[in-house]
Amino acid sequence: MTRLNGCGALVTGASSGIGAATARALAAEGAAVALVGRNAARLAEVAAQITGAGGRAVVLAADITEVAAPGQVVADAVAALGRLDIVVNAAGVMLNGSSLKRPFDEWRQMVDLNLTALMAISKAALPHLVAAAGSGRGVTDLVNISSIAGRTASAGAAVYHATKFGVTAFSESLRQEFARRNLRVSVIEPGAVSTSLFDHGDPVARARLAERLAEVEYLQPEDVADLVTHVITLPRRVALAEVVIRPIDQI
Ligand SMILES: NC(=O)c1ccc[n+]([C@@H]2O[C@H](COP(=O)([O-])OP(=O)(O)OC[C@H]3O[C@@H](n4cnc5c(N)ncnc54)[C@H](OP(=O)(O)O)[C@@H]3O)[C@@H](O)[C@H]2O)c1
Repeated sequence: MTRLNGCGALVTGASSGIGAATARALAAEGAAVALVGRNAARLAEVAAQITGAGGRAVVLAADITEVAAPGQVVADAVAALGRLDIVVNAAGVMLNGSSLKRPFDEWRQMVDLNLTALMAISKAALPHLVAAAGSGRGVTDLVNISSIAGRTASAGAAVYHATKFGVTAFSESLRQEFARRNLRVSVIEPGAVSTSLFDHGDPVARARLAERLAEVEYLQPEDVADLVTHVITLPRRVALAEVVIRPIDQI
């Protein structure tokens, strides 16, 4: 199946987890994929998996929280791929813990990456997505990875929730703004997925979350990548605008 033949895609967070799985899935559908993340070695591994399977990938190593980086990676992606039909914003970090004890810098890191960088990549990509919608599939896709943490809030994760609520609101507003221009904006809200997202930040908060999810069979990154691919490959008339995907046993 190569439903995305001729498409250019940019995926942030492509060095691991959901972003890496999504990049592989889009490449398997024929898209040429620009892989964005800080870890050049891990991006090169994902690129090798893609090219080894007969796909096309370019590595764009960047810290997208740096002010000039989002504009640069979007420009580099367009230069390398010739067009931009798909953007998947998957880069994110979760640093939970006591709002009294944890440093403000952790809050800033989450806002800078989960929200500001996502908005900056989207802003830089919008003109290219609008332009590409006039040819090829006749539709282009901006997919933002939010979370079930963007739907309901709980204690000890105030800023992670704030960023994910923000992503969901940002996506819905953009969806309405571009609904008549053949640019679909979708927001995906996963529950627990087995990735390195849980490896960062306060060990106490991490242990508490692991305990809360002890009975849950986490999703695999490929489960979310399958959903993203489904959203993107739907007929032009169909917009799956907001989708929750969670483990069957996550309450
Ligand atoms: N795992 C879950 O249970 C879950 C649930 C709901 C939502 N999500 C969301 O899914 C998204 C993907 O997370 P994941 O679970 O796949 O976690 P992950 O495996 O830790 O992936 C995070 C990605 O973000 C990239 N990244 C981090 N800082 C960056 C920076 N400054 N500049 C560029 N890239 C950066 C990382 O790459 P480098 O280290 O190479 O920079 C990595 O590729 C996140 O937005 C997360 O909030 C995850």
